[in-house]
Amino acid sequence: MADKKDELLLAAKEARANAYAPYSNFRVGAAVLGAGGRIYSGCNVENASFGLTCCAERNAISAMVAAGETEIRKILVIGESEEFLPPCGACCQVIAEFAAPSTVVHMCAHEGQCRDTTVAELVPFVFKLKK
Ligand code: THU
Repeated sequence: MADKKDELLLAAKEARANAYAPYSNFRVGAAVLGAGGRIYSGCNVENASFGLTCCAERNAISAMVAAGETEIRKILVIGESEEFLPPCGACCQVIAEFAAPSTVVHMCAHEGQCRDTTVAELVPFVFKLKK
């Protein structure tokens, strides 16, 4: 598989530009490479009822599932801080639902410098149910 990281980064940055984050002012973009080779992106969407906020990663994954794909080959997340952005705990659980333990997660800082990890490193003891 071609690397696709540059395409993922571009898609995540474009999505980040559309983030709806009037409460935290922290914009996040995410992009997922599906098994079929397509890229799906998402941004964080906040709400005045704070608990209804949805993270960029989960919105990108929902777009992938809505398009008929359920396997993540790679995922990239980019925030607005100088440190690389790890997915939050809820997003790690949702990523693990659709990814293998070895799936690469690119965690990026605001300008696109990334630190790479895997799903297994992020969630070593992931909760799963038999399908
Ligand atoms: N956020 C994400 O979109 N992804 C994460 O993994 C961490 C947090 C968003 C949620 C909220 O809109 C803002 O960042 C601040 O928490």
